[in-house]
Amino acid sequence: SEDENGVSQVVLRSPRRASARISLHGGQVRSWKTEKGEQLLFTSSKANLKPPAAVRGGIPICFPQFGEQVSTEQHGFVRNRMWVIDRNPAPLHSIDSSTGIASIDLVYISTDDDLRFWPHRFELRLRVILNVDGSLTLISRVRNVDCKPFSFAFAYHTYFSIGDIRRISQLKVHLNDSEVRVEGLETLDYLDNMLHRERFTEQEDAITFESEVDRVYVSTPDTVGIVDHEEKRTFVIKKEGLPDVVVWNPWDKKSKAIPDFGNNEYEFMLCVDAAAIENPITLKPGEEWTGRVELSVTSSLKH
Ligand code: BG6
Repeated sequence: SEDENGVSQVVLRSPRRASARISLHGGQVRSWKTEKGEQLLFTSSKANLKPPAAVRGGIPICFPQFGEQVSTEQHGFVRNRMWVIDRNPAPLHSIDSSTGIASIDLVYISTDDDLRFWPHRFELRLRVILNVDGSLTLISRVRNVDCKPFSFAFAYHTYFSIGDIRRISQLKVHLNDSEVRVEGLETLDYLDNMLHRERFTEQEDAITFESEVDRVYVSTPDTVGIVDHEEKRTFVIKKEGLPDVVVWNPWDKKSKAIPDFGNNEYEFMLCVDAAAIENPITLKPGEEWTGRVELSVTSSLKH
C-alpha cells in the first residue's frame, strides 16, 4: 500500500505487471495500467487530491444517488468519505467467478452523521479484482441494515483515458465522425441530463462526439464498447445488475466551469459509467444488492 496526502491506497499487481491502485478515500480506483505501463484511466492535472471532495478522475462511486435530487452532495456522499479495508471479506469465489490474482475488499458503513444526508443505514462493500489478463472487476454490494426499506441509484463513474476526442475520423463513414465511438447504445432510449432528464431515442449507428454529451442510456445490453482509433484500443465494459450507462463529456464550455478540470482536458477523457439510475434499486431490511462491472482493453481494432 502507498500513501497520498495521508490517505492510504492499495496497489494490486499481476505477475505480468498490470496494476490497479485503489484509494480508501471514496473506495475510488485511481489508476489502472496495462502490462506495458499505459494508464487507462484519466485523472485531471488539476485534480484536488485532498479529501473530502472526490478526486477528478479514476472511478468515483456514486451512491445513494446520481445527480443532486436527494442529498446536498452531488452524486451521493460515499465518494467523499473515508472507507476501510474489510478485514473479514467473503471468500473470493463465493461472490464472483472471475480469474482474480490480486484483490482488495473495502467497506463503507454509514454513520449517524450520514443520516442527515440520507436517513437510511447501509453497508457498502467494494471488491476490486485484478485479473490474470489485466482486466479489472469491481463488485459492489449494498446491504440494508436499517429497519425500513430504502431505494437508491448507483454508478461507477468511470473516467476512461482517450487519445483525442476532437479528432475527426479518417474513415469518413459519416461526416464529422469522431475517432472515438461508443458502441452498443444505438437505437436505445436515453435521458438527457442537459435537458432535465427528458427522454429521447438514439438515432445514430454509434455514439460519436462533437459537443457536450451528458446522457443516461437506459435498459442497455450487458456489454458496451469504446473504440478509440487514435490510441488503437477498444475498452470493453461488461456489467451485471447495472441496466443503465451514463455517457459524459463536458466539452469546451463546461470544462471551463469545472474548477478541478483543465480547459482542454475534455479531449483526453470520456466517462462511460455502468449504472442503475432510471429505476432505483429497492432493498428491504436485511436484503443485499450486487452490481458488477468488468473493464478490459484490447489493442486490436475491429472495423
Ligand atoms: C456527469 C453528470 O455524469 O458527472 C454531470 O451527469 C456532472 O452533470 C458530471 O457534471 C461530473 O460530476 P461531478 O460532481 O463529479 O463534477
